[in-house]
Amino acid sequence: MTAPNTEPPLDGSHAWDQAAEGWNRHSALVGDWLREATAAMLDAARIGPGARVLDIAAGAGEQTLDIARRVGPSGQVLATDISPGILALARHKFHVAGWAQASTRVADAQALGLDGAGFDAAVCRLGLMFCGAPQAALASAHAALRPGGRFSALVFGSPQANPCIAILMASAMRHAGLPPPSSPRQSPPPGSLLSLGRPGLLAELLAATGFADIEVRALPAPMRLPSVQHYLDFVRSAGLPIMAILAPLTPEAQQAAWHDIAQQLARFNANGQWVGPNELLLCSATRATASAVFSTHQEGTTT
Ligand SMILES: C[S@@+](CC[C@H](N)C(=O)[O-])C[C@H]1O[C@@H](n2cnc3c(N)ncnc32)[C@H](O)[C@@H]1O
Repeated sequence: MTAPNTEPPLDGSHAWDQAAEGWNRHSALVGDWLREATAAMLDAARIGPGARVLDIAAGAGEQTLDIARRVGPSGQVLATDISPGILALARHKFHVAGWAQASTRVADAQALGLDGAGFDAAVCRLGLMFCGAPQAALASAHAALRPGGRFSALVFGSPQANPCIAILMASAMRHAGLPPPSSPRQSPPPGSLLSLGRPGLLAELLAATGFADIEVRALPAPMRLPSVQHYLDFVRSAGLPIMAILAPLTPEAQQAAWHDIAQQLARFNANGQWVGPNELLLCSATRATASAVFSTHQEGTTT
């Protein structure tokens, strides 16, 4: 059962432009936090020298630079995102790094407009769950790949495995006078932070899109920071879903909400550090080759 969507809608470039500067300013933090998970995602997509890669919901391009490094000067990476503001920051990064093989294109992941582009691989780091129609996003990525091309993505797992996000969402909703995000028996609303965390859901969506060789595995991704305040600085400028829930409140009410959230998140203080648990799901799959589709069809017709 899906919870009524009472969270502010995040569809549209204007909404995401608001978090562009904050996300870009925290690129080093994000890079440290997601280093291992990102390497696993790029390995799963089998990205190597000379590859042509599509980076979906690329944000400020932090992982795009990792891709550019892997593909080298003979490869290409196209960073796409719904927010023109964040892509401008990504372009600046590519220019400073001197990576001519990286370019950008404003595109909604649910309608990339890249059918038949024949990419060797398509990846999406922490973007797919924001799509209200994830099946459309997967179909759009599938259509942009060559037969045999690889897809891989990282999304947040379940609320139980992501207690910091669960605390942030529940507290923000309570302070904003909105009903709690969802009960354990309800699925988070489409397009929300934890919307793709239900076990089995990603595999179902990939299979329904026509992908083959589907794998999904959980990856622990704890965020290690000097203090809870460092985490809150990040969320307050880059965590659009929480920022959007608290935006209508008065400055005093917002201050009270952040104070409450800080107190709850202090439970993750550990030996002079703050270690926030997170669990990501890494999915990967292949766009079937014409012969594989044909043989699957043949098997289907003879049984
Ligand atoms: C959490 S950030 C992740 C950015 C980047 N992939 C990273 O890991 O650093 C989510 C990104 O998804 C983008 N986004 C949200 N909805 C989108 C959509 N429907 N189509 C394309 N991009 C979208 C936002 O603009 C934002 O840049």
